[in-house]
Amino acid sequence: MSINYKFPKGFWWGSATSATQIEGAANEGGKGKNIWDHWYETEPNRFFDNVGPGSTSDFYHLYKEDIKLMKEIGHNTFRMSISWSRLIPGGRGDVNPEAVTFYNNVIDELISNDIEPFVNLFHFDMPLELQNEGGWENREVVDAYTDYAKEAFRLFGDRVSKWFTFNEPIVPVEGGYLYDFHYPNVVDAGRATQVAYHTMIAHAQAVEAFRGFDIKDGKIGIILNLTPSYPRSQNPADLKASRITDLFFNRSFLDPAVLGEYPAELIEILREHGQLPVTSEGDTNLLKANTADILGVNYYQPRRVKAKDHLPNPYSPFMPDWYFDNYEMPGRKMNKYRGWEIYEKGIYDIMINLKENYGNIESFISENGMGVEGEERFIQDGEIQDDYRIEFISDHLKWLHKAIEEGCNAKGYHLWSFMDNWSWMNAYKNRYGFISVDIETQERTLKKSAHWIKEVSENNGF
Ligand code: NOJ
Repeated sequence: MSINYKFPKGFWWGSATSATQIEGAANEGGKGKNIWDHWYETEPNRFFDNVGPGSTSDFYHLYKEDIKLMKEIGHNTFRMSISWSRLIPGGRGDVNPEAVTFYNNVIDELISNDIEPFVNLFHFDMPLELQNEGGWENREVVDAYTDYAKEAFRLFGDRVSKWFTFNEPIVPVEGGYLYDFHYPNVVDAGRATQVAYHTMIAHAQAVEAFRGFDIKDGKIGIILNLTPSYPRSQNPADLKASRITDLFFNRSFLDPAVLGEYPAELIEILREHGQLPVTSEGDTNLLKANTADILGVNYYQPRRVKAKDHLPNPYSPFMPDWYFDNYEMPGRKMNKYRGWEIYEKGIYDIMINLKENYGNIESFISENGMGVEGEERFIQDGEIQDDYRIEFISDHLKWLHKAIEEGCNAKGYHLWSFMDNWSWMNAYKNRYGFISVDIETQERTLKKSAHWIKEVSENNGF
């Protein structure tokens, strides 16, 4: 392979996963229930093909083989999450010794294969008992989360130096409290705001706790799905709508996490609509004093925003309309196997924004990837020939490379995902992995992209 795009020395090549989406063993090893176990029990038909979180990709039993495959395809880093309800069933109190053994084994196995573990503490999987107490709406749950984070730092901080408090904290807010695609299926913008606020308080409390541990080369941050907002026209209404969308979906997490404060314009809008969250004394200082060391950026597609054309927006009094799909725009490229827009330059725009407005914080692409429905149709000679994924990744990497050349502080690239996995309500509908998984037999098979990424990682470029 001739190298046209060489990445900086030590670049992180790898992939991202989450506990609920790969571990399986949902009722094994002393794990407590989380909201996904519960929601599936109560409404299984909400999930694609009625497939629930019970066994997913069985990483719980197959982690050794999987880590071997990670090594084989050139990973030097890997993002996993800890399942809170596995480590501390019920969300509070004693740790579950079987979970400690499992996570110790995984971490040790990664390290002994020269793969650095990146550990995320919360990936949409609230313990059921705590959700029953109000979940992120309840400030006491924020304290329970901080205790959980401390346990994790204490147990695994001797070997894990890269920590993340949350993955995509906007998703439980919009899914659970605005658009009805996550439990508890509430549609209430005011409650959504409270949930979002408490998440960031939990983040800051965990960062504060982290600083109290002596973790070698320790860095803590958050993973945000920064979704660039582009107005559909230059008319003032669309420009304003686009700015509001950016404030709500991106900056309501990015600003407190990196700058330690909320954008004044966002506070004004919420005040105007009577939707300011309940706060506690000391919160402002807590946020200011506990900003992130590192930022994970998940990037899939942008938002194409236009001003409201029907009033009121059924979900929120102030949100503009925005669409991912069904929007014709010259040159707009779609993933024809799944339906999301592909706009590679978004990755560059995000990085330049971080450089210019967020102190060029150390960052990396913590997720990017291409979901494909019915991917078996591309099998040839026993392997999925996912040339479209290779093209997708390399097109994004080119823009990332350009951003780095222009001085952006991006340190790595993680694909979503290592292997096909269970994706919440979509279950196994869209496949994302370098490695395909037969969900009946749990057999793993490398896709063409897995061979390709091995070369890219080994050459540190392509
Ligand atoms: C982002 C989320 O972090 C992950 O859980 C999800 O499966 C992927 N996007 C793909 O939709």
